[in-house]
Amino acid sequence: YDIRIVNGPNLGHLGVRQPEIYGSQGMQALPELVAKLLGPHSADVRMTVFQSNGEGALIDYLEKAREEGAHGIVLNAGAYTHTSLALADCLAWIGLPCVEVHLSNVLARIDEPLRQKSHIGKHCIGVISGFGLTSYALGVQALLLHIEKT
Ligand code: DQA
Repeated sequence: YDIRIVNGPNLGHLGVRQPEIYGSQGMQALPELVAKLLGPHSADVRMTVFQSNGEGALIDYLEKAREEGAHGIVLNAGAYTHTSLALADCLAWIGLPCVEVHLSNVLARIDEPLRQKSHIGKHCIGVISGFGLTSYALGVQALLLHIEKT
């Protein structure tokens, strides 16, 4: 399966950016986490990671993923999760199954109520939030389960 891992703004310095919130692991640690979680099934997955700080570039990438016949998306849209109707509109039509992921548990960040709203969530299969980089690995696993039952 062709799975795209898509990271939005400020996620290009994972491991360096506020590690007390977002963890000290970089994206390069993801393949090993996925391998551990999926065991032999990880051989069925080809992951490509994309990151952009720009809303338009993220939408362009998702449109391209559709054209290229990708099987699904694991998306951490960063702050665009909470603000971007444009990204939500894109997910609404491209027809690719998507899992929304977050490193931090956004629902636990009660001092920042804006983070409790997701525009993209209603166009996703589900949401995984709060497990650091493991959120992405769980996202890949959830995506595979979804793809294989549909
Ligand atoms: C985040 C949570 C968002 O609220 C924040 O804007 C991010 C990262 C997370 O992974 O925990 O940039 O999506």
